Amino acid sequence: EQIEKGGFDHFMLKEIYEQPNAISDTFRGRMLPEKGIIRMAGVDNNIERISNAKRIIIVACGTSWHAGLVAEYIFEELARIPVEVEYASEFRYRNPIISEKDVVIAISQSGETADTMAAIQLAREKGAFVFGVCNVVGSSISRETHAGAYTHAGPEIGVASTKAFTTQITVLTLMALKLAKHMGTISNSDFQMHLQELERIPDKVQKALNSDEHIRKIADIYKDATNCLYLGRGFNFPVALEGALKLKEISYIHAEGYPAAEMKHGPIALIDEQMPVVVIATRKGYYEKVVSNIQEIKSRKGKIIAIVTDGDTEVRELADHVIEVPETMESMSPLLTTIPLQLLSYHIAVMLGKNVDQPRNLAKSVTVE
Ligand code: G6P
Repeated sequence: EQIEKGGFDHFMLKEIYEQPNAISDTFRGRMLPEKGIIRMAGVDNNIERISNAKRIIIVACGTSWHAGLVAEYIFEELARIPVEVEYASEFRYRNPIISEKDVVIAISQSGETADTMAAIQLAREKGAFVFGVCNVVGSSISRETHAGAYTHAGPEIGVASTKAFTTQITVLTLMALKLAKHMGTISNSDFQMHLQELERIPDKVQKALNSDEHIRKIADIYKDATNCLYLGRGFNFPVALEGALKLKEISYIHAEGYPAAEMKHGPIALIDEQMPVVVIATRKGYYEKVVSNIQEIKSRKGKIIAIVTDGDTEVRELADHVIEVPETMESMSPLLTTIPLQLLSYHIAVMLGKNVDQPRNLAKSVTVE
């Protein structure tokens, strides 16, 4: 097992560090910038069916559901197709309105999650075209869907999902860009810019990983917190949910993710000097609005840990701690902002002596209802 961990203390940490490679493995061979195309067999072979969708419905559970929420922002922005994101467990029991005009995307790392599987069967019965995004090759979901794309993240052993999440977002970004190109909702130059930026993401993830030691020090300050709030907006709202989930899963600290502007409708009541609030405040994406949210937290004496863009000065003046990530396009920022949140929960869990790779009561793949 020590050998499998490749010198890391835990699989989770190894998998966090594998993300630069995992993301390039996901896009390798698919992006052909010199030809101005993206090649994905599962999409290519069904391009008319998918691009004519009246609606895309994404079904998933857990972290994969969060990747689906990020994809909602990406698909709507790039391909201008309306997207709904559903918990597979809710979708399957709701007698959902769905027809052959819909495309369902099922996201699952393991490809074995029972609720997601049942949602797929239901969607198929109703005539929808079902596309799978799985990591495990040959898994049940990859076999039950009409077409799909693998994430190629390599085996994920840690129960708390890390590289599966960022590679799911990568695959879904490629798919959205491909559809956008086909449908003419993106200009050629914008398409090329996206491809070029995606190629730079592995290096930028590597840079984000360089904050590890700084994050460990922050973890040491907040490890005894009993609650933690995560805030983000736009593309980074789902990242706030995912950050909170990571902390809950492995450290057993109660954490909630919220869209930053919703804070005033409830969570703000919880803020006092004991409350750490993790805020994603990267320069694009409603920056000024998030800064004013940070001011509201500060005036209530909450402790602010802000994820900011390299070189940020405005938030630095307000926050108790800042963690920098490289600048990127807004739609790709979840691939970077997620990294410090994974590391923060990892270090807190290790400091609390928790079983990071196999947290209590959780399973890597949930094959029962
Ligand atoms: C379990 C795992 C999570 C995962 C979720 C969905 O709860 O502990 O890490 O996100 O299942 O799994 P899937 O394999 O369908 O992505």
